[in-house]
Amino acid sequence: MATVAKNPGAEQAGGASGASGLQYMTGLGNEHETQALPGTLPVGQNSPQKVAHGLVSELHTGTTFSAPRSFNRRSYVFRIRPSVITGKFAPYSQPLFATPDFGQPNPNHYSWRPFASQKADCDFVDGIATIAGTGSPHSQSGMAMHVFSATRSMKDRVLSNADGEMLIVPRVGDLRIHTEYGVIETEFGDVVVIPRGVKFRVELLSANASGLIAENYGLPLRLPELGLIGSNGLANVADFQIPVAAYEKRETPTEHVYKFAGKLWTAQLPHSPLDVVAWRGSLYPYKYNLHRFVGMGAVNVDHPDPSIFCFLTSPSDPIIGPNLDVMAITPRWNIGDHSFRPPGFHLNNVCEFIFAMQGYAGLDDGSITMTNNFTPHGPETETVAVAREMPDDPMRLDEQLFLLFETRFPLQVTPFAENAAELMGDDYTSRWDDFTPYFDK
Ligand SMILES: [Fe+2]
Repeated sequence: MATVAKNPGAEQAGGASGASGLQYMTGLGNEHETQALPGTLPVGQNSPQKVAHGLVSELHTGTTFSAPRSFNRRSYVFRIRPSVITGKFAPYSQPLFATPDFGQPNPNHYSWRPFASQKADCDFVDGIATIAGTGSPHSQSGMAMHVFSATRSMKDRVLSNADGEMLIVPRVGDLRIHTEYGVIETEFGDVVVIPRGVKFRVELLSANASGLIAENYGLPLRLPELGLIGSNGLANVADFQIPVAAYEKRETPTEHVYKFAGKLWTAQLPHSPLDVVAWRGSLYPYKYNLHRFVGMGAVNVDHPDPSIFCFLTSPSDPIIGPNLDVMAITPRWNIGDHSFRPPGFHLNNVCEFIFAMQGYAGLDDGSITMTNNFTPHGPETETVAVAREMPDDPMRLDEQLFLLFETRFPLQVTPFAENAAELMGDDYTSRWDDFTPYFDK
C-alpha cells in the first residue's frame, strides 16, 4: 500500500506552498533539511548506530568529496532500504533517447516546428527524443537537448541518469515529479532540475504533456555570478523551490530505468525506491518559474548581451564560453533611444539553441531554432524594415517567453532530428533571401 507523506510542513524551516498546496523549501545553494516523520533527522551526526524508525543512512555525492564548500553538492538521505539493492541491469531499448557522438556538426541554420508525439501511447521515459548534443558523459563535458512527449504517467517504474543532470521544461501539460527527495509539481513556466543519480517518476496532471529537456554532462548547474549588477536581480536565490521529504512505503515490483555511460539500462526492484523519509544536504532537485526572473536591460541605448538573461550556468572556460548557459527571456519592457530594438544581426563564439515557449520570432509555440558556433543569424528582412521605422516609444513584450541554451562546443544534430518532418528547410533560411541593402551610396 502506498504511503505518501505529503505536506509535512511543520518539519522544516522556510516552507513555502506552491499553487498545488505542496510544500517547498526555498533557496538554491543552501543546505536544507527536511523530514516527513518527526524525529527522523539525527542530531550532531549523520550515521548513528541506529537511525530513527529503523531507517538506514546513505550518502549521495554530486561533486568530489573535497570540492570547495560553495560548490560541494552532497546530501544524506534516511530511507527504508539502501540503494545498494539494485537488481541486475540489462540493456533497455529506447533508441531515440540518445547520447553523442552524433557525427559531423555543420554550420547550417536549423529550425523545427513543434515536435509531434513520436509514439501514440508512452510515458516520459519512452517519449524522449534527442535533437542535438555535444561532448560525452565519459569526459563529463558537453550536453544534449531532447524533446519529450508523454500520454500517460510512469507506472511502477522510475528513471535516474548518471550521465547528466536533467533540466526539464514542460510546455504543454503539467507534471507531478516524485523524486527520492520529495514531490515537485509544475505549471507553465516552471523548469525542474534533477541531479545526476536521483531517481524519479513523472506523472501527468493533464491528458498529455510535452516539452524540452537539457541534459548537462558538465559541472553542475549553478546560479551565475552577478558581478557589477550587485547582490540582487536576475534569478534570485529565494525563488528556487526545493521539495520537502515525501516517501512511499511500497512493496510493488518497480522497474528502474537507468542512463549510464551513454546507454539505457533496466533492472527490477522489489519495492519503490522513492522511500526517503528525511534528508539533509546541498544535493537536491529543484524548480524555478521563469516568470519570477528579474530581467534587466538597457535603459538608454543598444542591447546588452544575452548573458544578462542567464539564470543557470554550467561553466567551462571563462574566456571562450560555458559548457551550458541557460537564459530566460521573459515578458518585459523593450526600450531604447534611437536604437534598433529587435536583437540585431550577430555571430557568436557559442552555439545557440532556442526553445520558443510562446510568442517568439513569428514561430509556432514549441518551435526550436539552433545555430552552431559563428553561424550568423538575426532579424528577418521584414522585421528589419519595421524596426528601422518604428517610433522610440517603450514597447511591452507581454507574451514572449523563450529559453536560450548556449554552449561553447559545436552541436551535432541527431539522425532523428535531421530527418524529422518538423524540420523547416528553405522556408526558414529563405527569410533573408529578399534582403535589399539600404546602402545609399
Ligand atoms: Fe543569437
